[in-house]
Amino acid sequence: MSTTGPKTENIAPDKLVRVTFEPEGKTVEFEYGTLPYEHHGKPMSFLDVAENFDIFLDHACGGACACTTCHLWIKDQTGISEAEDDEIDRLDMAADQQLNSRLGCQAVITKPGNYVVEIPKWNRNYTSEGKPLTLAEGK
Ligand code: FES
Repeated sequence: MSTTGPKTENIAPDKLVRVTFEPEGKTVEFEYGTLPYEHHGKPMSFLDVAENFDIFLDHACGGACACTTCHLWIKDQTGISEAEDDEIDRLDMAADQQLNSRLGCQAVITKPGNYVVEIPKWNRNYTSEGKPLTLAEGK
């Protein structure tokens, strides 16, 4: 497991947020409330966290709850915002939906703690193969 991000030894344990992205086991740590908003998804969403730490989590619609490419499985949803109706509707279109499925751009960390999320296999394959092909124009 690797940990990236700013030094965390000066962060009080009750303010520490630790997020592990599986299956890579990449863990990031930061002080709750100090993460700059990267304008991808809701502030403090898992997509926002991933963008802050250069962890690739696809987000074809830019975090607007209009696709399902940021689909994640969240191990324990304690401390995570409740899904709103538009997220629930969108998740119905996601491949491989599970009880712990959330959209990475909509699921927000609401308090310090440890969080573990998994990027579904199909999404990892997608990311390892790069961006989707686009049809050649005018041919
Ligand atoms: S990035 Fe499109 S729904 Fe999350």
